[in-house]
Amino acid sequence: MITMLAIEVSELVKKYGEVVAVNRISFKVFKGKVFGFLGPNGAGKTTTVEILEGLRQPTSGSVKVLGYNPSRPEEASKLKWKIGILPQDFNALDRLTVKENINLFCALYGNRISAEELIKLVDLGDYKKVRFYKLSGGLKQRVGLAVAMAGDPELVFLDEPTSGLDPRSRRETWKIIEGLKELGKTVFLTTHYMDEAENLSDEITIINKGEIVAHGTPEELIENYGGGKRLIIRGDGEVLNVLLGETGEKPVKVGGEVRVPFNKPSEAVKILEMLSLKGLNYDFEVEKGSIEDVFLKLVGAKITEEGELK
Ligand SMILES: Nc1ncnc2c1ncn2[C@@H]1O[C@H](COP(=O)(O)OP(=O)(O)OP(=O)(O)O)[C@@H](O)[C@H]1O
Ligand SMILES: [Mg+2]
Repeated sequence: MITMLAIEVSELVKKYGEVVAVNRISFKVFKGKVFGFLGPNGAGKTTTVEILEGLRQPTSGSVKVLGYNPSRPEEASKLKWKIGILPQDFNALDRLTVKENINLFCALYGNRISAEELIKLVDLGDYKKVRFYKLSGGLKQRVGLAVAMAGDPELVFLDEPTSGLDPRSRRETWKIIEGLKELGKTVFLTTHYMDEAENLSDEITIINKGEIVAHGTPEELIENYGGGKRLIIRGDGEVLNVLLGETGEKPVKVGGEVRVPFNKPSEAVKILEMLSLKGLNYDFEVEKGSIEDVFLKLVGAKITEEGELK
């Protein structure tokens, strides 16, 4: 039977003694899509990923990955040739160069894909001869991505691939992940960065304290929980006072600007028109809801840069 599903998880539970790391979670991952698994530190992301990879045993529930049951050793050993893994704590051989490291992993997989092709895929052409330990965090992660792709897998697990990287390196990694999707690969991406989940994922599942909080496309989540669009208006005290006094909606004053929520474009136009008719000078922009708003609404907290709930 031909299935569109790469992964099917049903009622998965994982306990470490008293700690319930994953509590009856169910979800599906479609082939060729980027699946964002978003949650703060300790949410249960790595536990789930490693069960899917066949590296940890579930306490209960069922898991299917590319048609295999990874909790059965004989199936896990077949599955491992079909998936790629970038673990959260990736490290290559320090004293080997980028090219030597990638060559090594290509050889392990029987040279299904050439090292040169992988180097191009992760844009490491300028660093081929540099020893691994000399690379920056972002470049090390790119070697990790190349290694994950060394078996030319159809499904690849990326466990927090951009954690701790500077904003520029994070964006460069995003481009590489987008490239994987263009090659038709299925990508299981865990992250605590809300912008990363929003920008890269076709579908996002939000996990917190081992439980799934919400699931949908970024657009669906923002539409359902993102709090709609806002008009951000900046101006002098008079502009702000007029807005606070005259708009029917509930404007919120933040610093030197007022945020007015609206549903229809005509509502926003009416407000701007009113300011213009009064001859006031102002500046405006439209802000749409984000996954950050969604998370805040559902969990009642934000995830910090470090992955903590705040
Ligand atoms: N081997 C283990 N033994 C005991 N408890 C564990 C083990 N691995 C994880 N845990 C606990 O299970 C919970 C989920 O951890 P997990 O590593 O899956 O979360 P995560 O979402 O990957 O978090 P992080 O962002 O820190 O990587 C946490 O409370 C963690 O302390
Ligand atoms: Mg983790």
